Amino acid sequence: MTDLRDKYIQAIADAGDENVLEALRVQALGKKGEISLQMRELGRMTPEERQTAGPALNALKDEINSALAARKESLGDAALNDRLRSEWLDVTLPARGRRQGSIHPISQVTEEVTAIFADMGFAVAEGPQVDTDWYNFDALNIPGHHPARAEMDTFYMHRAPGDNRPPHVLRTHTSPVQIRHMEKHGAPCRIIAPGRVYRADYDQTHTPMFNQVEGLAIDKDISMANLKWVLEEFFAAFFEVDGIKTRFRASHFPFTEPSAEVDIQCSWVDGQLKIGEGDGWLEVLGSGMVHPHVLRSAGVDPSQWQGFAFGMGIDRIAMLKYGIPDLRAFFDSDLRWLRHYGFASLDVPTLHGGLSR
Ligand code: PHE
Repeated sequence: MTDLRDKYIQAIADAGDENVLEALRVQALGKKGEISLQMRELGRMTPEERQTAGPALNALKDEINSALAARKESLGDAALNDRLRSEWLDVTLPARGRRQGSIHPISQVTEEVTAIFADMGFAVAEGPQVDTDWYNFDALNIPGHHPARAEMDTFYMHRAPGDNRPPHVLRTHTSPVQIRHMEKHGAPCRIIAPGRVYRADYDQTHTPMFNQVEGLAIDKDISMANLKWVLEEFFAAFFEVDGIKTRFRASHFPFTEPSAEVDIQCSWVDGQLKIGEGDGWLEVLGSGMVHPHVLRSAGVDPSQWQGFAFGMGIDRIAMLKYGIPDLRAFFDSDLRWLRHYGFASLDVPTLHGGLSR
């Protein structure tokens, strides 16, 4: 019996974790454990033998039980001490500086534009960035052979040979939202539609993805004069500069008649872009009276309704307002640039609170 005792007491002392302890418990005291089997033998002993063996076995059982309990406790302590050592934390260290992101100038300007047009009664509409060539071109009075399709450097979506679904494009302008909105809601309407557009073009003032905001106002008696007033009102509010000079140039778009492009006076000196001075002009939008074909494509009767539309480059007006000379930097994700040109995240532009502080 002493052999048995030594064997288990030693094994328990050496046990490295609770699983080993449990195995030892079963091996000694389980139903078929070594000590349990010896207990069963007691029945076959003489009363005298039993009198010494019984208490000895019981004492051994107790001893092993308490050895198991003691080892279990010290293993637990060791695990806790390990955790305390590894999860140690110096609460006297200085706190980490606040690293807060900033609002990208495009997001900021989109909010500013939305606030100004909302004040003039324009709601915000949206459309998909991947659209059919019908919405992007045909419905806007740009038939298949029209040179405007080539001029726009369109990105076409890949089609497997034999796939005869209508071609999809990355929209080249926000104008398809005009069609989608009128199709769904009819006339009268007054909306702006900000969003991303795509053209295969790349230089200091062109990137393959850029942002436009479309404007559309349809009613019974809307004229070119309303268009001019709305745009001048917009530029005065947006640039927060009195007497900012704009230039309306007669132009041509298939989806408007008559059409006008608008430039804003600016100067480029030493790579600095400044608005309202100098003899340079930056084109910021195309506009005009919505072509009757366009109204008809969208299910609106051109003998009853008329109105204006415009498409403005959000990135362009952001460059002008915030003196950012190179459009490509908008999309480089350069943290130094973002910290410099970004806006505080809680500064939501409103007309009453100030558009840009
Ligand atoms: N869609 C034109 C462009 O991308 C802009 C425009 C919109 C012109 C609406 C007239 C009317 O250049």
